[in-house]
Amino acid sequence: MAVLICGGAGYIGSHAAAELLERNEDVIIIDNLQTGHVESVLKGAVFYEGDLRDEKIMDEIFSAHDITDVMHFAADSLVGVSMKEPLEYYDNNVYGALCLLKKMYQYEVKRIVFSSTAATYGEPETVPITEETPAKPTNPYGQTKLAMEDMMHWCSEAYGMEFTALRYFNVAGAHPHVDIGEDHKPETHLIPIILQTALGQREKIYVFGDDYPTEDGTCIRDYIHVKDLIQAHILALDYLRDGGASDVFNLGNGSGFSVQEVIDTVEKVTGKTIPREIAPRRAGDPPVLIASSEKAKRVLNWKPEYADLGSIVQTAWDWHRRHPQGYSEGDDSK
Ligand SMILES: NC(=O)c1ccc[n+]([C@@H]2O[C@H](COP(=O)([O-])OP(=O)(O)OC[C@H]3O[C@@H](n4cnc5c(N)ncnc54)[C@H](O)[C@@H]3O)[C@@H](O)[C@H]2O)c1
Repeated sequence: MAVLICGGAGYIGSHAAAELLERNEDVIIIDNLQTGHVESVLKGAVFYEGDLRDEKIMDEIFSAHDITDVMHFAADSLVGVSMKEPLEYYDNNVYGALCLLKKMYQYEVKRIVFSSTAATYGEPETVPITEETPAKPTNPYGQTKLAMEDMMHWCSEAYGMEFTALRYFNVAGAHPHVDIGEDHKPETHLIPIILQTALGQREKIYVFGDDYPTEDGTCIRDYIHVKDLIQAHILALDYLRDGGASDVFNLGNGSGFSVQEVIDTVEKVTGKTIPREIAPRRAGDPPVLIASSEKAKRVLNWKPEYADLGSIVQTAWDWHRRHPQGYSEGDDSK
């Protein structure tokens, strides 16, 4: 039995590999390294550098290993780019996912845990967001993730292929004892951007809008620690292995933090002053996005450990301080 991690050299996929290896599972990784890092591939995993859309390498992998389960993280995931290059997003996130599902069908692999996103909800009118909140993506990124959810649904109906679609909110933090962390180029996520400012790599932080109907006027978002997120993936995998039915789950912290609060927390954790400048609101930024993850807690028995923002920022800071330039060539310390 082996778990194939698609996108296992990326930020979240490498944390999944760490957890599965700790459980003594056989881990196979495919990653085309478009945003991933070979340095984040942990010892013990079998690594294939390649693309999901390349049938030759997919056949090689599925024939060489007894793959029983898939965790699918590989995707393009920049909302802004998806607005400008929708075809690129459909190519990777829908066609790439289709190629994966076809190979799973061909090789009779029945279980998949999929990285979906809060972007499937678009700009919901009420919070907290539950799985019952209508999915109305407002960009190609969210739409392509929803398309994969639909494809998995119909594969489940037709072929008995069971899935969990995990709709993440803002993932942050780094592994507390394995040396892996978040290194996106370009970085678009708030916490690492503020940490780059703390490291002197950016001059200041732009706060987009301070006139929202929130306590301090800045947007409120839900931040979930990557370790808690991966714990939910492991529980979702076990749930499917125990015969659980295909389903969709939100994964968030359940408490929101404003942009100002996040900056203040980074100042507290790092001891550095973060220069900030108020900029105009960005189009399509809802004031508050908070998840209800009650379903994951109830059905998967998920118990997140990193509820407070300070500990999320602390683990991220520990990694960024050790790797101010992110992953570097030739780091074979894993
Ligand atoms: N980071 C977040 O806050 C967040 C939030 C919601 C959803 N997600 C989703 O979670 C998943 C993982 O996110 P991440 O932050 O780890 O991103 P990431 O870019 O670090 O990881 C994605 C990995 O997939 C690889 N990849 C992409 N397309 C591929 C292909 N066609 N074939 C093989 N490998 C391919 C990349 O090289 C990369 O290593 C993504 O699907 C993303 O949409 C992330």
